Amino acid sequence: MTKVSVKHEIMVVANPDELSLRAADEFVRLAGEATQAREFFTVVLSGGSTPQGLYKMLARDQYRERIPWSRVCLFWGDERCVSPDHPTSNYHMARESLLDKVPIPEENVHRMPAEQEDHDCAAAGYEQTIKAFFHLKPKELPCFDLILLGMGEDGHTASLFPRTSALEETDRLVSANYVEKLGVYRLTLTVPVINQAANVMFLISGESKASIVREVLEDEYQPRRLPSQLVRPVNGRLLFIVDHTAAGKLTRI
Ligand code: 6PG
Repeated sequence: MTKVSVKHEIMVVANPDELSLRAADEFVRLAGEATQAREFFTVVLSGGSTPQGLYKMLARDQYRERIPWSRVCLFWGDERCVSPDHPTSNYHMARESLLDKVPIPEENVHRMPAEQEDHDCAAAGYEQTIKAFFHLKPKELPCFDLILLGMGEDGHTASLFPRTSALEETDRLVSANYVEKLGVYRLTLTVPVINQAANVMFLISGESKASIVREVLEDEYQPRRLPSQLVRPVNGRLLFIVDHTAAGKLTRI
């Protein structure tokens, strides 16, 4: 495999709290830029535990009051196939840590309908939601202002897990991805959608991520084993906000 570097920025911060603060600062800055240029600031939220700190930070007065919530439109990068009030639902986590605490209109919150029995139908339905929102022509890709991502210890991001079929999906915007190692389906945005974003921001913290962060950023390009390496924005900005412990094995920063 060839070594293919992708233009990116790495912001190393002291700890998870500073990670949330810096990410919140970026969120406010991008929200201002987007709403000066367009009607809406379109954001794809990540699941997992790391972004919860950011969501709680955005709900604090010093950030909540600086964000034009009526012009923020939220989507999800992936979702577990559970009900929206299930404790493992990414929507549930965002609802509890952010949505219930800020004045965002319900119609601006575009939840993945992952509880649907027919996962392919759910993926197709969410794809239609995105196409309608962005008034996409056939084959056209949406350009989200900001896509938030996490990184798993196996190198997955969103629900793009190693050696799963969604990694190769280039036609659909949303995929129902069977994750054998978990024995479940997940809904996930596909790689072309992520790479069309204007800004992609990875939020990564904890010593347990140090090895995978180094592999993804410094090892050979092997996307089937390290799906996070597939994130290579076509024109957008790629920023990794990584705390000190997760950055601990990087040799080039
Ligand atoms: C999910 C996420 C997933 C997450 C990583 C990192 O649904 O779980 O989308 O991709 O970002 O697993 O999770 P942590 O932030 O909890 O380490």
